[in-house]
Amino acid sequence: MEILDGTKRKDPLQKHDPIFHRDFSKKYPVIDYGKGVYLFDTDSKKYLDASSGAVAANLGHGIEAIADAMAEQAKKAAFVHTLRFETQVQYELAREISDMAPDPLRYVYFTSGGSEANESALKLARQYHRDRGNKEKYLNIGRWQSYHGNTMGSLSVGGDVKRRQPYTPSLIKTDHVYSPYCHRCPYHQNEEHCGRSEQLHCVGELERLIIETGPEFISSFICEPIVGSQQGAVVPPEDYLKQVRALCDRYDILMIVDEVMTGFGRTGTHFAIEQFGAIPDILTFGKGVSGGYAPLAGMIVSEHVVESLKRNGQGKFIHGFTFSGHPVSVAAGLAAVRYYKDQRVLDNCRKQGEYLVQALQVLQARHRSIGQIRGRGLLVGFELMKDRDQDVFYPPEYGASELLNQQAMKLGAIFYPGAGTIDGKQGDHLLIGPPLTITSDEMNEVIHILDLALTEFEQLDQV
Ligand SMILES: Cc1ncc(COP(=O)(O)O)c(C=O)c1O
Repeated sequence: MEILDGTKRKDPLQKHDPIFHRDFSKKYPVIDYGKGVYLFDTDSKKYLDASSGAVAANLGHGIEAIADAMAEQAKKAAFVHTLRFETQVQYELAREISDMAPDPLRYVYFTSGGSEANESALKLARQYHRDRGNKEKYLNIGRWQSYHGNTMGSLSVGGDVKRRQPYTPSLIKTDHVYSPYCHRCPYHQNEEHCGRSEQLHCVGELERLIIETGPEFISSFICEPIVGSQQGAVVPPEDYLKQVRALCDRYDILMIVDEVMTGFGRTGTHFAIEQFGAIPDILTFGKGVSGGYAPLAGMIVSEHVVESLKRNGQGKFIHGFTFSGHPVSVAAGLAAVRYYKDQRVLDNCRKQGEYLVQALQVLQARHRSIGQIRGRGLLVGFELMKDRDQDVFYPPEYGASELLNQQAMKLGAIFYPGAGTIDGKQGDHLLIGPPLTITSDEMNEVIHILDLALTEFEQLDQV
């Protein structure tokens, strides 16, 4: 047998770059360290991270209490398998999160990332129905223009057209409805008129789909409460989630709300659902729970779902990951959640969020490229347009939002660009989601750089 010796240098001069890059056509700056809202690369260039990475580094960089808590836990017990053991930090964080969530959301299940959290929720919904004798309930309904992750299950229920397309043949059968983008209603309804009717048109469409498919086949409905990366902070009408809740109750469908981006204070409350008066059966979270200090996510499960699991499923969820409840990640989460509380981070988020929207309204008067401004807390977005007054977007191939973000990066700030805002292909937006700890001076810097970047972007206009 030939044994391959991997220790022999393949590349003695180390010319070959071993990283499998996100995009091999790009050259990425290398980050040396971060402090607060800033990142510094190895060429000493400073970036104000107005996107918190992927809206994950909610507390900014360099918080010693979180780093210390992780180090302490790593020294104590770096890993235990949740099939055999639990840890004190896991218990304490679950308690904190359970207390934070509205009743009857009570039981906390940990995963490493948001995609895993949504996979877990879809599987739990399926098991819930099966355990109760409803073996035919297997289909999930998602929404176009919502993002729930990149694993096959989460990608299938998600509605990100570009990410789905290469994998279409392998996706799990799912039905989709449109999300309530009232400003450009995909069902061509009049916003005011629709809002006054007893049932919103898009909720009616969801009901029609349920009836036509047969509620006996439908397991869950999943949505983001406020659409993040796909549409740039689109807020639903006040009653939307309540009406969806009522449908789910009527047809015995579990309601899953994906708060991976919106959770942990991002929209000004612990969870965005608090602002809409509807409580799902399963709420998924991620990103901000550890302030981005460690891979951590999960789901909060309603009492009746867990009661069913105990009664009808022998108490076992047939699922699990090696790194579920990883002690070091959970220790980071516990320290982060305490930091949110102690530093009154949500108060700052609301204050800075209001200020940001007002400042964007001022910029809007100067920049024809700023269309509708929307969002809650520090999840704020705007439509990036060629000409707002003529209601014209840039063609998709122009890559407008990416271009604007590149201008901003040169000037020292990072935003979260997005495209396909209207229908998965047309339209651009820019999402702004700085750490929730941002100060007023830092926010002024964000606005100033955005102003300059927009000016350069508009002058560049080559379409
Ligand atoms: C709303 C939402 N759900 C799920 C995910 C997937 O999370 P992860 O990338 O941690 O798997 C994301 C990530 O951007 C998200 O924004």
